[in-house]
Amino acid sequence: MASGFYISRALALALALVSVGALASIIALSVLYAKEKTKDLEPSPTSPAATTTADSSSFPSPRTSSSPGPPVPWQRYRLPDSLAPVHYDITLWPRLEPDGRGLFIFTGNSTVRFVCLKDTDLILIHSNRLNFTLFQGHEARLKALGGEATVPAIKTTWMELMTDYLVVQLEGRLEAGRSYLLHTEFVGELADDLAGFYRSKYKENGVEKILATTQMQPTDARKAFPCFDEPAMKAVFDLTMIHPRETVALSNSINYDPINVTIEGRHLTMTRFHSTEMMSTYLLAFVVCELGFISSAPGAPVLIRIWARKQAILEGQGDYALEKTGPILSYFQNYYNQTYPLTKSDQIALPDFSAGAMENWGLITYRETALLYDPAFSSIEDKENVATVISHELAHMWFGNLVTMRWWNDLWLNEGFATYVSYLGADSVEPTWKLTDLMVFEVHGVMEEDDGPTSHPLSCEEGEVQKPHQIRQLFDTITYSKVARRQE
Ligand SMILES: *[C@@H]1O[C@H](CO)[C@@H](O)[C@H](O)[C@H]1NC(C)=O
Ligand SMILES: *[C@@H]1O[C@H](CO)[C@@H](O)[C@H](O)[C@H]1NC(C)=O
Ligand SMILES: *[C@@H]1O[C@H](CO)[C@@H](O)[C@H](O)[C@H]1NC(C)=O
Ligand SMILES: *[C@@H]1O[C@H](CO)[C@@H](O)[C@H](O)[C@H]1NC(C)=O
Ligand SMILES: [Zn+2]
Repeated sequence: MASGFYISRALALALALVSVGALASIIALSVLYAKEKTKDLEPSPTSPAATTTADSSSFPSPRTSSSPGPPVPWQRYRLPDSLAPVHYDITLWPRLEPDGRGLFIFTGNSTVRFVCLKDTDLILIHSNRLNFTLFQGHEARLKALGGEATVPAIKTTWMELMTDYLVVQLEGRLEAGRSYLLHTEFVGELADDLAGFYRSKYKENGVEKILATTQMQPTDARKAFPCFDEPAMKAVFDLTMIHPRETVALSNSINYDPINVTIEGRHLTMTRFHSTEMMSTYLLAFVVCELGFISSAPGAPVLIRIWARKQAILEGQGDYALEKTGPILSYFQNYYNQTYPLTKSDQIALPDFSAGAMENWGLITYRETALLYDPAFSSIEDKENVATVISHELAHMWFGNLVTMRWWNDLWLNEGFATYVSYLGADSVEPTWKLTDLMVFEVHGVMEEDDGPTSHPLSCEEGEVQKPHQIRQLFDTITYSKVARRQE
């Protein structure tokens, strides 16, 4: 007998039926999938600018993905291209103790100067969870630059909660080529939510200390003050902080001499900062704290300071970071062939911080474990981590901060590149570690993730990333590590 494989007639029939069933399901699912896919790609039928009052020509319909396109500009997540910010003058006063309601708040005012690029009767500016002082019933006051020029009256204002806008509708039109000033006064909560302008606490010698700090990336600058909160909407920022006398205020640029003031019967300090470079809102940072610092010896290329809890500074935990920052900055200066763009570099270790570190231009914020190194307690791996994270953040001072992606769909370029060059910068200061040989492990590490169901392409269309939660989703291992390992 020839060797063979025999099954019963009934079993054969059953198997045939199962095969047909499986095939049918596959076909049905493919058809469904193809249908869904074309639905995603087609411009949605409702999206063409069905605007009533606004200038429809200023609002090209974005290629929104799955959801039907919203009919009006304030229901779209992207700002129209009719206005561009130039300069902000901001004053903020965080309260480091709770008010009568038990709420920690900050008050502030802001004047943004913007230029009109296309005639429009609509101002959209991002704002999230801020309460405004009303001027003649409206949340904002509008002036034309130059004063005597006429400015259209405000018809109506409201908060558009879904898209985080303060909407200002005007009676007449702003004219292309002219500049305007929009002034607002507001109050926000200094919550312990690690986003926007937030508060953090720690204990020192048994005493609880409160500090105020920021995490703007990607879309939380709008929680601190009204702003055109997109990376391409770069502007110059002039910031003034009002804070308790025992605290110090820090920001992206260096401060003028603080002055003592008395406001509402309270003895406070007012610290004004030099104008920033032209920069994106997501890179802004400000901190009010009682932390200590060590700084570079005079003669360093720029002023370098490491900030941390006073005790940690006394114990020398910031020494390693201080020692390596100058040489890494010099390495990148040479690597990019471009001098460090700012006049100082502050790096601060925060007791409460959600990411590993954040590359705010001139004031980099870190988790304590990513900046501090204690030879008595930290491992060699901790030390390697400190060197590569510092290197990653310093790399962003040029790539990401000086030169910035237009929109978040190109985040992979920003993060992947910084992750890659972080090995080069760290290797330049710790050549015996052979860090560049370790890069291969990082790329291998991400392959496992890339193989999983949550993987995604590195890049995507601008229109595919619109909402804040879609933007936040991009900050994952794929975005960071398809080039090397993840480090915020
Ligand atoms: C903003 O607030 C500060 C502090 O209260 C005040 O000194 C300043 O005049 C205000 N700016 C404007 C333009 O109202
Ligand atoms: C803003 O106003 C709302 C509604 O009145 C209130 O519940 C909230 O506490 C206010 N926020 C602040 C920070 O005062
Ligand atoms: C501000 O006040 C503090 C304490 O009240 C004092 O030590 C400091 O010298 C004052 N600074 C100026 C510039 O007057
Ligand atoms: C850039 O390269 C040129 C040519 O090698 C050199 O002369 C210059 O000093 C470099 N600039 C910086 C900032 O490194
Ligand atoms: Zn980064």
